Amino acid sequence: MESEMILKWMQERKSVRSFTEQEVDSKLISKIINHVRLAPSGFNAQPWRFVIVKDKNMIQKLYQYSGYQKQLNTASCVIVLYSDLMDVHRKVEEVLHPEMSPEKKRSDKEALLETLEMAPDVLQSQGYIALGYLLLALTAYGISSVPMLGFDLEKVMELLEIEGSILSVVAAGYGVKEGYAHHRLALEEIVRLY
Ligand SMILES: Cc1cc2nc3c(=O)[nH]c(=O)nc-3n(C[C@H](O)[C@H](O)[C@H](O)COP(=O)(O)O)c2cc1C
Repeated sequence: MESEMILKWMQERKSVRSFTEQEVDSKLISKIINHVRLAPSGFNAQPWRFVIVKDKNMIQKLYQYSGYQKQLNTASCVIVLYSDLMDVHRKVEEVLHPEMSPEKKRSDKEALLETLEMAPDVLQSQGYIALGYLLLALTAYGISSVPMLGFDLEKVMELLEIEGSILSVVAAGYGVKEGYAHHRLALEEIVRLY
């Protein structure tokens, strides 16, 4: 059953930090991000933006900026996920659903502009919804990955001409071996029921 697949990928996904030499196809990554962009966000603001890095010299620089985290030594593809609220601001009209009434469009636009001004973190952090989608979609296509944030982020932003906030740098490839087994807090420690 299809609904069981997503549960399987959730179970299967683990951070993998060593990859084979087999290249990840750029077209496949674009196809995956085409699924990822279906993630939900407040006012449909879609704060997420992506940079796909396949260039080996650039990946070497990222390896350096990560303090030589080994996964970047073998990853054939790095996907940088960031939030760009300036671009969200520029696209405020574009994200309003065409089927909305003029009244609803007006109120949503006002509310989005107000959120951008008063509570930008609320929008920025929603980029992480796309990270969850991305990691699962990569798994679905048999691509292993590890999300990372241990970088000199200013240098990464400069290298990739990113304006906004980096949420994660995802090293991807075909895994050599599985990551650690899942190790998580118990359900009772993270869930309360009234
Ligand atoms: C935002 C974020 C940043 C992370 N940064 C790093 C990192 O810099 N280096 C690293 O090896 N793993 C990093 N990780 C991976 C976590 O260590 C890993 O997801 C966690 O230990 C759970 O293991 P699992 O992904 O195998 O389930 C990061 C994960 C997230 C979500």
